[in-house]
Amino acid sequence: MDSMRIKGGKPLKGKVRTQGAKNAALPVMASCLLLKGQKMVLNNVPSLQDVETMIALLETLGVSVGREGSRLSFDVPEEVSWEAPEPLVRMMRASSLVLGPLLARCGRAVLPLPGGCSIGSRPIDLHLKGLVQMGAKVEIRNGFVHAQAEQLRGRRIYLDFPSVGATENLMMAAAFAKGETIVENTAREPEIENLAKTLRAMGVQVDTEGAGCIRIKGSGEARDCVERVIPDRIEACTYLLAGVMTGGEITVEDVVLEHIDALLAKLEEAGASFSVGKDAATGEKSVTIYPVKKLKPLSVRTMPFPGFPTDLQPQMAAALTLSGGVSLVEESVFQARFLYAAELNRMGADIKIKGDTAVIKGVEKLGGASVKATDLRAGAALILAGLAAENETRVENMEHVLRGYESVDAKLRALGAEAAFEADPE
Ligand code: EPZ
Repeated sequence: MDSMRIKGGKPLKGKVRTQGAKNAALPVMASCLLLKGQKMVLNNVPSLQDVETMIALLETLGVSVGREGSRLSFDVPEEVSWEAPEPLVRMMRASSLVLGPLLARCGRAVLPLPGGCSIGSRPIDLHLKGLVQMGAKVEIRNGFVHAQAEQLRGRRIYLDFPSVGATENLMMAAAFAKGETIVENTAREPEIENLAKTLRAMGVQVDTEGAGCIRIKGSGEARDCVERVIPDRIEACTYLLAGVMTGGEITVEDVVLEHIDALLAKLEEAGASFSVGKDAATGEKSVTIYPVKKLKPLSVRTMPFPGFPTDLQPQMAAALTLSGGVSLVEESVFQARFLYAAELNRMGADIKIKGDTAVIKGVEKLGGASVKATDLRAGAALILAGLAAENETRVENMEHVLRGYESVDAKLRALGAEAAFEADPE
């Protein structure tokens, strides 16, 4: 398990360009299974471990995946396998996103139930409930989901929780269903619209006009399509917080402002300042964060989009460990997303977890230490703390971070950080 060694205490300065969004690329890649003897080309795909896992999964199912830099092409044969291999599915929860397209296209799917992870049990009951409502027969035997449907039927489905994955699976399942499917109380994350755009490019009628309500008109056929992955809003915000925590000045290029409103609003509330730029040639937006003496304490509650993103909760908490007072960070999406707190406390932070809320008392400074990443965003929070801390920090289990942050060492060094991977001693 590789570690990253960071020498902290230096203000970071410079430009960093966002990667394609991991959580947009994965569902869009899975949607290629709706094609039959056709091709999907996807641009701006990030180079990440989770993308490699999804490529391996699609290839196991029979798709040929080509790659030119950040452009991936998916040649989907007339026949694909509908049995997802256990090792790959257990590696990545997002593998469950092949369920909807396989059912829509093959009428069958066998998938290991995804396990839990360090942020909660993460069931897929809402996915399965919606598919059954559309006429699928679903059985769970020995930890596997066996789903079958001669013909899925469109209908009105209400999601008990605006689950991102359930929304995505049901959108793809509805692509060839008989009649119209209306999904209510859907997730509204920007990644959902990226998938909707891809389905439209395939020839499926998807109407996302109503906030939290998606209407899909099943179509007979799909067709070749070309799509582009949106910028990664969580990565962008992580680097903006790196600027705030190190007292530096960082410009993050290729952002969609509406996707990062929640963070910008909270940073403004905490006394930070930023400016927005626009590339004259490409029209791409950028955000520059400026040095701030000390953040004011905040009260933050994670919510489904457009609320404050749960995927930014650990990184925001890390920033608030250095604020000028007591902050409250409430996690309302996942059951337990505070494992990073104990690691930050080893660096001198003062965080107490009370139920679903972290009470964070600002301290003067953080000190370097050896800490362990427990999941992707917890790892990002520890890296941010290491960049701000005095002396040296060693973040272990960096494979979690590599699942979602492309070239994180090179990007940090380009901002002036002293950060490098080192293999753990054998
Ligand atoms: C997606 O996960 C993201 N992953 C997660 O990002 C993100 O944290 C999450 O959405 C919330 O925004 C991808 O897009 C690949 P959910 P997903 O279904 O779809 C419960 C990261 O760091 N739930 O919206 O799994 C669930 O347990 C990752 O990039 C059910 O109870 O999230 C959780 O408490 C982490 N039953 C809540 O809903 C279900 O059937 C939100 O889950 C489905 C979900």
